[in-house]
Amino acid sequence: MKFIVVAGARPNFMKVAPILEAFASEKAAGRDFTVLLVHTGQHYDEKMSGTFFEELGIPPPDIHLGVGSGSHAEQTARVMVSFERVCLDHSPDWVIVVGDVNSTFACSVTAKKLGIKVAHVEAGLRSRDMSMPEEINRLCTDAVSDLFFTTDEFADANLAAEGVAPDRIILVGNTMIDTLIRHQHRALAMELPSGAQPRQYAVLTLHRPSNVDDPQTLERLFGAVRRIAERIPIYFPVHPRTRRNLEAFGLLNDASAESNVFLIEPLGYLAFLGLVARSCMVLTDSGGIQEETTFLGIPCLTMRDNTERPITCSLGTNVLVGSDSDRIVQEAIKVLTGESPIRQVPPYWDGRAGERIVDRLLQ
Ligand code: UD1
Repeated sequence: MKFIVVAGARPNFMKVAPILEAFASEKAAGRDFTVLLVHTGQHYDEKMSGTFFEELGIPPPDIHLGVGSGSHAEQTARVMVSFERVCLDHSPDWVIVVGDVNSTFACSVTAKKLGIKVAHVEAGLRSRDMSMPEEINRLCTDAVSDLFFTTDEFADANLAAEGVAPDRIILVGNTMIDTLIRHQHRALAMELPSGAQPRQYAVLTLHRPSNVDDPQTLERLFGAVRRIAERIPIYFPVHPRTRRNLEAFGLLNDASAESNVFLIEPLGYLAFLGLVARSCMVLTDSGGIQEETTFLGIPCLTMRDNTERPITCSLGTNVLVGSDSDRIVQEAIKVLTGESPIRQVPPYWDGRAGERIVDRLLQ
């Protein structure tokens, strides 16, 4: 059996790490198979890619496609052309894709058209918001997948409603949480940015095109951030897309001058997890961070109108606050005055999702 595991962008790296680890321990136990790791190069900066490999002990990719940035069509097409060559050269039995980035979609469709079986890890998530590129990637990837590894029962229900046979849907838990559990103790040993006191600061991340590509929306969100910062310091690791836009819209100087908002470079995995785990609240538009804060029991305000991860709201600590600044500030004040949701960890988010995935694939 030959497997190709694909990773392309920052949130993919923590998802493939436990799968590769589980494959390695099966190999050490004498099972006979081959695994190749393909990095598409969708993310390529040291801070967006290299550091994750080092910190999470991910082996260097066997093949690097080096596709880099571009429009969605350019980036997706470059991944497809290069990945088709890889599939033809290596003839894998299975291609394993994770998450919902352009590389996930590009590699799953390319493999399927060559008659190669596709396993999707984190299958079945749906925001029902077709303005999100990730939603299109999720739907297209699931349309061609043969095995669906899911994180929760909402995803199972979505797939069942779309007609996927029950024996192809396997609820395994969350590989991103596997990685969190594995590395939490190291993250808590990382130094906080100078001046940050545990539980006395908030963390902000923003990178979704719908929030950062339009000057008025970005300015409005930043207005809310400024009002929250009157009550609590906010640490803001700035995604390259967001930095570029803040600069282009003439907002970067104002944002940097804000005395209680600390703009910092994107952080490595351990530093970021350490920062979040000791914060009192997270403001974000990320998908994965909704899950990490749910596991950690840290209140999370998600600046979106919808989520593909509803379990983080029903069981976890997540509240959808949209992009209306008054609502964002009101919800932040609730958290700061102690009205925090009770934490419950979703079933199977126990650190063993990677093992379950590899068990099933080797069967
Ligand atoms: C991608 C994913 C998104 C994920 C996010 C995490 C898609 C459609 N989106 O969005 O789901 O949440 O990654 O970051 O796949 N850039 C750099 N260095 C890098 C990578 C990107 O400077 O290493 C800059 C480039 O200017 C690039 C921009 O960031 O044009 C956006 O990168 P891209 O990969 O297109 O999408 P993300 O916004 O990062």
